[in-house]
Amino acid sequence: MQMLHTVAELRAAVRLAGAVALVPTMGNLHAGHLQLIQTARQRGLPVVSSLFVNPLQFGPGEDFERYPRTLQADATQLAEAGCNILFVPSVTEMYPEAQTCRVVPPLADELCGASRPGHFAGVATVVLKLFNMVQPRIALFGKKDYQQLFILRLMTRQLNLPIEILGIDTVRAEDGLALSSRNGYLSATERAEAPRLYQVLQTLAAALRAGETDLAALENAAAAELTRHGWQVDYVQIRAQSTLLAPAPTEAACVVLAAARLGNTRLIDNLEVTRPMQTV
Ligand code: PAF
Repeated sequence: MQMLHTVAELRAAVRLAGAVALVPTMGNLHAGHLQLIQTARQRGLPVVSSLFVNPLQFGPGEDFERYPRTLQADATQLAEAGCNILFVPSVTEMYPEAQTCRVVPPLADELCGASRPGHFAGVATVVLKLFNMVQPRIALFGKKDYQQLFILRLMTRQLNLPIEILGIDTVRAEDGLALSSRNGYLSATERAEAPRLYQVLQTLAAALRAGETDLAALENAAAAELTRHGWQVDYVQIRAQSTLLAPAPTEAACVVLAAARLGNTRLIDNLEVTRPMQTV
């Protein structure tokens, strides 16, 4: 695996590699990231991964400074997983001047965007820059960041980028907790409590599957259950998979999304669910 630090080196390497798959990351890798690399490998393309803690997607008071930086361990895991090129730019290499051409994607103020203003503009900007630098044939993202995946698909479609976006299923710990670099912030007590987020989503999904139609009541009950156990809830929402907006009564394919804080750690999770068709 080549480890490269400049855009010029990256461009030269991908020119030689031909069509490639791209897996953007912020590092501190876990099995979910490695699943993205493995899926990219299965597509038979050389794999480029990037490791960049992107300051543009962190708001004031968020965890940019303390975000875990574990380059050596990440590089070892990526090489073992079959990554061919690892791009590790500095902040000045990625943003040599004040970044003016920031994309403001649709849905940027919804769900996670409501409590993290500017976050999705920062994500879209860095991913668009990586797309331009690498010009991959496919790019892979985890479904745990469901709204991010949705927004990046929209951006790719709206800007006519010739890139196939693949969403890969969330990898979970045995107790159901979605793997996340931020799980490392949890104390032992918080880690024991953390699987409740997924359990609450499963309960809500089961009620939807059983034909419950009062979505607000379901969302409120789920949020109340988390609050009762010490969580500070940002949102629990039932949305349509096709639009990420409130589902019409006739829309069967839904996704339940939640974000909540345990102590100082903000966790997100989601669950796709198909409910019975309603007649209106
Ligand atoms: O999901 C992430 O790790 C980041 O948001 C991404 C896509 C690498 C952009 O910085």
